[in-house]
Amino acid sequence: MSKLFIAGEVFHGAGTLGELKSIKGSKAVIVTGGSSMRKSGTLDKAIEYLAEAGIQTQVFEGVEEDPSSATCFKGADIMAAFQPDWIIGLGGCSAIDAAKIMWVFYEYPNADFDAMTKPFTVPVLRNKAKFIAIPSTSGTGTETTGLAVITDREKGVKYPIVSYELTPDIAIVDGEICASMPAHVTSNTGLDALTHCVEAFVSNIDNNIADALSKGGLEIVFDNLKEAVVNPDNITARQNMHDASFMAGLAFNNAWLGIVHSLSHQVGALYGIPHGASNAIFLPNVIRYNAFATDRYPALARVLGKETAEDLAQAIETLRSDVNNQSAIKDFGISKEDWERNLDYIANNALVDPCTGFNPRVPSLDELKAIYNACYEGVVYAEEVIA
Ligand SMILES: [Fe+2]
Repeated sequence: MSKLFIAGEVFHGAGTLGELKSIKGSKAVIVTGGSSMRKSGTLDKAIEYLAEAGIQTQVFEGVEEDPSSATCFKGADIMAAFQPDWIIGLGGCSAIDAAKIMWVFYEYPNADFDAMTKPFTVPVLRNKAKFIAIPSTSGTGTETTGLAVITDREKGVKYPIVSYELTPDIAIVDGEICASMPAHVTSNTGLDALTHCVEAFVSNIDNNIADALSKGGLEIVFDNLKEAVVNPDNITARQNMHDASFMAGLAFNNAWLGIVHSLSHQVGALYGIPHGASNAIFLPNVIRYNAFATDRYPALARVLGKETAEDLAQAIETLRSDVNNQSAIKDFGISKEDWERNLDYIANNALVDPCTGFNPRVPSLDELKAIYNACYEGVVYAEEVIA
């Protein structure tokens, strides 16, 4: 027996933000990022819809990119004073992830953040409030995952907090909200969704439902990402990418990820490289590395009318350049000296990242370093001895 972990209720389609009008409750805290949700009018619309439902709202604005635990404590204090029965994460993944952890500290003010970095240790939630996720980017699928990524800047480490308790009660997947997303955010987040499809499909967890979602999500990303980048007001392409991101999130919430994410988490924390951008650099070479241990890639290649793992890797490289993304880590202005000084540190952290355990090939430290180095230079990863 296997249980499918999915958001409690899912509304998807252009205009579904209006579903907030039918929420039952009395008080909501909306957690959001910089100012894009206010500027686009989405925040005001959400407050208006909630007012129609008789719900009083307080807003926590200003969640930073890669939110810290300190931001989460701040939000929890506001919640403690206001006592909401709904927490609403509205905006990019950072806002929603921070809202999830604020929710934990609202319900458990004395919870130990460090202890929660161990998977599946978040205490039972929903004693005080339930959670609505309304994403404005199409990448992480956090609206249907039990994951929140919180960054410790002092240590230079990103902690994925993993617990099915964090899976939202309601997901609103409304592509209209994405129209204000800048092109580079559209491409980075879309390439993240693509990575979720590929990693979930080849992970060492067998799950037919996740497989179908991965294949479907991959096809939608290849058919729509470029259009969403080039024509940001094309709401059909926006909604398609939003659906694909949800599908990819649902796939990996049930089949997990692999070493693309392990490698990516480290360069994100240390160098601030956007998550989807580094994923798109690592993914083709990780496909080449993993192809020695799994025969799953050709099935994904066939979705694109291709045949082999190498075809899939190259198709991803083509899409990556079509949406103007970087092809090497050094493109982010990291000197060779700096890279070599930190290589052992990031490779060791990648080795113990929770995602590594689900990769189809068990990597050694030296192999992770070899993949890192090929991706730093932007060259094809190759092995002389075929496993
Ligand atoms: Fe990701």
